[in-house]
Amino acid sequence: MTPTIFVLNGPNLNLLGTREPEIYGRDTLADIEAKVRAKAAELGLAIDFRQTNHEGVLVDWLHEARERGISAVLLNAGAYTHTSIALLDAIKAIGVPVIEVHLSDPETREPFRHHSYVGLGAVEVVKGLGAGSYLVALEKAAAL
Ligand code: DQA
Repeated sequence: MTPTIFVLNGPNLNLLGTREPEIYGRDTLADIEAKVRAKAAELGLAIDFRQTNHEGVLVDWLHEARERGISAVLLNAGAYTHTSIALLDAIKAIGVPVIEVHLSDPETREPFRHHSYVGLGAVEVVKGLGAGSYLVALEKAAAL
């Protein structure tokens, strides 16, 4: 069976393309999804790609990853990365490897972005490569 990877995107990532392009680049989330799907086809992976602005929905999707036997999760939790103990608890609860993804490098930005709750539960972090962060994270997921 083809392994399925969840690619979960959090708040404000639906606005990529026009949102602070000097930080996040000009790719829309649909552009990123297309790149991820092309790379996944090369790697022999199936992709379930989603975005929500709601913290609890991300928690529900992490639970669903366990229920459905998903192989790995790529998670760009946006600002919830830096605030959400609930996401950390979910990551720890599900027993599915989670790779933290960011377009920018939060550690080179404002101090409030330097701490990551997601990172306390994730197996890896890939950041600062723009849309490329998702592709490198997908390669890491394939290697897991
Ligand atoms: C982000 C970085 C976060 O600090 C920020 O809140 C985002 C996007 C990134 O992909 O670079 O929304 O996760």
